Amino acid sequence: MCGIVGYVGSKNAQDFLISGLKRLEYRGYDSAGIVTLAEDGTATLLRAKGKISNLEEKLAKNKRNDKIGIGHTRWATHGEPSEKNAHPHQAGEIYLVHNGIIENYKELKQQLKEHEFKSETDSEVLAALINSFYKDGKHPLINAVVQALKLAKGTYGIAVVSKLSPDEIVVARSGSPLVIGVGHGETMIASDASALLGHTKQAIYLNDGEVAMIKKDSVEIKTLNAEPVSAKVEEIETNLSAIQKGGYDHFLLKEIMEQPESLNETLRGRVNTEDGTVRLGGPGLTENQLRQIKHLIIVGCGTAYHAGLLASYYIEKITPEITIEPVIASEYRYRQSYIPEDSVALIVSQSGETADTLACLREIKKQGVTTIGIVNAIGSTIAREVDGGTYVHVGPEISVASTKAFTSQVIAMVMFGMTIAQAKGVRTSVLRPYVDEIAKLPEVIRETLESVHEKVKDVAGKYASYEHGIYLGRDTAYPTAMEGALKLKEISYVDANAYAFGELKHGPLALIDDRFFEFALLPKGELYDKAISNVQEVLARGGHVIAVTNEKKFDLPVDDVINLTAESEIFAPILMNLVSQLFAYYMTVAKGYDVDQPRNLAKSVTVE
Ligand code: F6R
Repeated sequence: MCGIVGYVGSKNAQDFLISGLKRLEYRGYDSAGIVTLAEDGTATLLRAKGKISNLEEKLAKNKRNDKIGIGHTRWATHGEPSEKNAHPHQAGEIYLVHNGIIENYKELKQQLKEHEFKSETDSEVLAALINSFYKDGKHPLINAVVQALKLAKGTYGIAVVSKLSPDEIVVARSGSPLVIGVGHGETMIASDASALLGHTKQAIYLNDGEVAMIKKDSVEIKTLNAEPVSAKVEEIETNLSAIQKGGYDHFLLKEIMEQPESLNETLRGRVNTEDGTVRLGGPGLTENQLRQIKHLIIVGCGTAYHAGLLASYYIEKITPEITIEPVIASEYRYRQSYIPEDSVALIVSQSGETADTLACLREIKKQGVTTIGIVNAIGSTIAREVDGGTYVHVGPEISVASTKAFTSQVIAMVMFGMTIAQAKGVRTSVLRPYVDEIAKLPEVIRETLESVHEKVKDVAGKYASYEHGIYLGRDTAYPTAMEGALKLKEISYVDANAYAFGELKHGPLALIDDRFFEFALLPKGELYDKAISNVQEVLARGGHVIAVTNEKKFDLPVDDVINLTAESEIFAPILMNLVSQLFAYYMTVAKGYDVDQPRNLAKSVTVE
């Protein structure tokens, strides 16, 4: 999604803004722009469609040594990707960058007759509205911003500068993140703390409904109702190395390969193999509260939803007297669902900023239900608004496609289920295998990634010309198949869908022909033989099957077999998902697409 950066200090603002925007590239964008102000207020506005490198070409001819400025990467919502729709937008003496959506922009635009609109964006309407209250500097900039925001409906993270006060940036947020980086004699802003790394470790996370006036050595925050807010300075936990490729060709491959370490971070201090228990401090529920839980709602979007769905299969196997309802946030927020007593909601999100997931969280909280976050991004909005939570601690995920977060989200949720089971008195003999397998999972993941890597690469190369894929699984392998299909479609643009094996006969079997391949996930276990019968049905109709299995005796005449040799009885689907991740990666490389920034997508979806 859109990204914001800003700088006021004594260094070259253009340099900071460009490097900051590059850090935010991973969020997905289609145009970019910056504006800087000289001491006398002269503004240099540069905008370009497409990659930041296009903006840099313009910059090369317009180098300035200005010490203040704001920048933006845009992900189009209102108006096509183009230079005129790129931010910053100008109105009178002010310039604005905006993340989010102003819902009543049409109404507001009607009232702003004096401004000549140059773009089709809702953001320019907000710039014009601020300018209408600013009256060419007759009121302080912050007051004009506050007056305008009181009329704006929707979501925003904004930064505004004025030619008439070229030593201050005004920022505000409602539903779209903004972080203020506090340095020595310099202050920075960004929509994502990763843009601040290498400049400062000290950050102030703005809350919804707050506005701040930022100068090089001061930050003054107040609410839209003019109540002063005392700034809480927090440490940014991420390191620079975590947002670099570290020798890999793509962030996606790096993130797939670092899952042994990232899962270890999720497990740290939470698994006790000696007494066979798990312990999660973050949710903050007492034994009694855990015992009472009868209904678990799991909310997420995309990969986070798949993680919730997969976790629900596991949790219901180990936790008695519980119903689990995994839901897609964008649907759930508009449903009239009845939430029974003794419910707890797990809110799953890598970024902690997904608009639909956040909306569900707020809705669910209104109904008095306890909310627990399963979040990666520290200090994100969801992490701050839930009643309690478990950070998955996988470090920054830069590639748009989520990989390492999925694995850790599933395990974190299974561990939450286990804490409920422990409180409900489930016997250690039932939980012990889970504890043991979770504890050894990082190593098993390492072995799997090493042992299957070359084989998956070969198989992906073989199928690189295919445009259609069907992912199949039963039980825990079904949500895993859904996640595999999502990964493939989002980065390689192959039309991939997932079905439960048992559903084949009810429609999808009609698809089987030479244009399709079938990616069959076949973990050993109770339903293995049934899944094998389904594969036979596909083979009998001339399907092209890639079988992924940990059953050594597998001997069907499929086109390709990817064998898992590293053992995890319970979490074999997680290992199969590593295969799906690598398969999607190598298919995309073979097709020559942009692995880390697939078209039309954004990393953090902060609009509905
Ligand atoms: C897929 C993917 C998306 C996200 C979804 C939710 O690879 O990355 O489907 O999983 O947008 O994002 P978070 O987890 O940040 O709420």
